[in-house]
Amino acid sequence: MGNFAITGGNRLRGEVEVQTSKNAVLPLMAAAVLTGEPVRLRRCPAIADVRNMGEILTGLGCEVSREGEDLIIDAGPADRCEMPTGPAKELRSSIFLLGPMLGRFGRAVVAYPGGCDIGLRPIDLHLKGLACLGAEISEQGGAIVCDGRKMRGGLVHLDFPSVGATENIMMAAVRAKGRTRILNAAKEPEIADLQAMLNRMGARVYGAGCSTVEIEGVEELHGVEFRPIPDRIAAGTLMIACAMCGGEILLKNVIPEHLSSLIFKLRESACKITLFDDKIRIAANGRPRNVHKVETSPYPGFPTDLQAQYLALLTVGEGTGMILETIFETRFKHAAELIRMGADITVRDRIAMVRGVERLHGAEVRAHDLRGGAALVLAGLVAEGETVVRDIGHIDRGYERLEDTLSALGGNIRRT
Ligand code: UD1
Repeated sequence: MGNFAITGGNRLRGEVEVQTSKNAVLPLMAAAVLTGEPVRLRRCPAIADVRNMGEILTGLGCEVSREGEDLIIDAGPADRCEMPTGPAKELRSSIFLLGPMLGRFGRAVVAYPGGCDIGLRPIDLHLKGLACLGAEISEQGGAIVCDGRKMRGGLVHLDFPSVGATENIMMAAVRAKGRTRILNAAKEPEIADLQAMLNRMGARVYGAGCSTVEIEGVEELHGVEFRPIPDRIAAGTLMIACAMCGGEILLKNVIPEHLSSLIFKLRESACKITLFDDKIRIAANGRPRNVHKVETSPYPGFPTDLQAQYLALLTVGEGTGMILETIFETRFKHAAELIRMGADITVRDRIAMVRGVERLHGAEVRAHDLRGGAALVLAGLVAEGETVVRDIGHIDRGYERLEDTLSALGGNIRRT
């Protein structure tokens, strides 16, 4: 999988163009199956999750190609409604294909999905939602078999505002006859982005970004060229890096509103942040001040996908801090690795308590998942001496050459 070797101590300085959102792109790739015409996603990030999703689509018979930074998916030739198991096991987002496959073919067979090992991550809400639209779902030999021939619009109430379930149900409903309402829908910006693209393809979806999403079924969708939103998690990771290392960076291609929960926390930590239409400038000097309590929650709350990186910040901040992880059960694997670098962290169930230390020291640590891996990189950038982060394949799933981005800002990091 490869390693990152990082020598800590450099301040960060410069400008950086933020990548396109991984969590927006993956469902958009799945949505391409809803039409027989080509879908072009502009500036699609070159990350492992996108490659994996591309392989799954190819396995369904789609033609997937790159043209510069753009990704083109032509689902015209798609003729299989059984998802290939190999790559699907790697990628939790493969479950997103359920809705579009039902919408297009009226039938879907998928394996139980993989992805980051950060807790239970069941798919019951996805399946219950599809059942509310009339899909008949059964389990056969470890695979989920869905028959969507009798699907029509329906009323869905989600017990929890799951991002993936909301997106899946939206995609299943766009071609189902009649009206669908999703209550207690997730409000993440990636869902509004999915609505935007679906509507450009001829769908009639309203309300994404609010807790009720309505879908009026249409007969057919057509191709589209679409530029997805910037990656708020990649941007947030770089902001936290700057808060930890000190210095001043300008992030280009961001939507500041999508980062408001982090911006408020970082301002409390004494960072100077200036917001522009599509840029954020952040400056930090000296040790960050620890904020007493951070609780992860659905958007617009503090994102669970920035929890690990924020924990890394707390380890070197002044004072004590606490994180309550409410979304995933076991998302603190990075804490044990940070402790190897000299961090003072106590984890009890879903709570991490941190006493900031003056300095971390370099160590050999292991990435267990995508965001936890990024947190170790950030810790390495401020630690004394050399840090080696192993198993960086997890990091490559979601960050486009993170080492190049950080080196360009003055960080001392290389891939070995
Ligand atoms: C998406 C993001 C992921 C982010 C997460 C939470 C993508 C590709 N991934 O993941 O990066 O960390 O949102 O913001 O967009 N749950 C159930 N049953 C279900 C589905 C979910 O109980 O059927 C629970 C999960 O166990 C978890 C919570 O709901 O506790 C949130 O999950 P969900 O919002 O679905 O996350 P994902 O869509 O997997």
